[in-house]
Amino acid sequence: MPRASLDERLAALGAQLAPAPDKPEETPASTLRALWLLAAGTPASAALALETELPDLDDDGHARLDGLVASRLAGTPLAHLTGRQRFMGLEFAVEPGALIPRAETELLANAALSFLKAVPAADARRCLDIGTGSGNLAVTMAALCPGARVLASDVSEDATRVARLNVERLGVADRVSVFVGDLFAPFDTAEHHGRYPLVLCNPPYVSSANVSQMPAEISGHEPAAAFDGGFGGMGVLRRLLRDAPRFLAPGGRLMFEVGAGQGEGLLRNMAAGGTYPLVEGLKDERGVVRAIIAGC
Ligand SMILES: C[S@@+](CC[C@H](N)C(=O)[O-])C[C@H]1O[C@@H](n2cnc3c(N)ncnc32)[C@H](O)[C@@H]1O
Repeated sequence: MPRASLDERLAALGAQLAPAPDKPEETPASTLRALWLLAAGTPASAALALETELPDLDDDGHARLDGLVASRLAGTPLAHLTGRQRFMGLEFAVEPGALIPRAETELLANAALSFLKAVPAADARRCLDIGTGSGNLAVTMAALCPGARVLASDVSEDATRVARLNVERLGVADRVSVFVGDLFAPFDTAEHHGRYPLVLCNPPYVSSANVSQMPAEISGHEPAAAFDGGFGGMGVLRRLLRDAPRFLAPGGRLMFEVGAGQGEGLLRNMAAGGTYPLVEGLKDERGVVRAIIAGC
């Protein structure tokens, strides 16, 4: 389809460029605009592409666009083609070694940001981000909360490489440090105990038994460690709940994302368990609990 306009391509592709399974921002129009910009040599997330004027493409550019559209239709995630994803208004680098940041995680990010900003002394705005992935939560805290300092961990070396890339790209290297390690292991020393007003985590919470039933676009392209939460999806979560109190400062909060359908039961169990006298669920726009705030 040489030199077809954006509108002509959109009409021809129709619903084939349907939104990705869990990325509502990827409409046919935003997807095609992002691929158009990429073909022109300007990588942009779907969200940024909607705000960016499209340049003209020459014949080579249209041929590149044809190839990119074919890759997208074959199931390659848009963010793996563009290498970009917007999260909390920031443009993150994306690579296959780390989970693509999801818009749904902004529920957790917004609550965490409000809480950290309310810590009166800027130099006390310390945060741990467990399972940092691309570093989206860690970088957001540092970039959008004045004075915030974040220590981040991930068990995946590939993910920490992406996180460090984002820490550098988004200019927060002086306030975010990224470590490879299991949950809290990289900071489990006396100097870190009882010191953090905020412990943040978006853990893997899909039951191992369900990982193979996830859409191929997700399970076939993003790292299993980002989803697979073990038996009942609770493996990492259980250890997070057990260990986080050791690091929380008085009045501090553990904030974490949960899977759709997981929140109500967890809230009941936590309320009955006693470790966290304060537990609150955060609901998304459909009324589903997708994040939990806990204090002890
Ligand atoms: C759902 S992803 C979240 C990534 C990122 N924080 C986000 O919000 O997009 C979960 C992350 O936890 C990491 N992870 C899984 N098990 C872990 C463990 N035992 N210790 C540290 N990180 C772990 C995975 O590698 C993955 O990067």
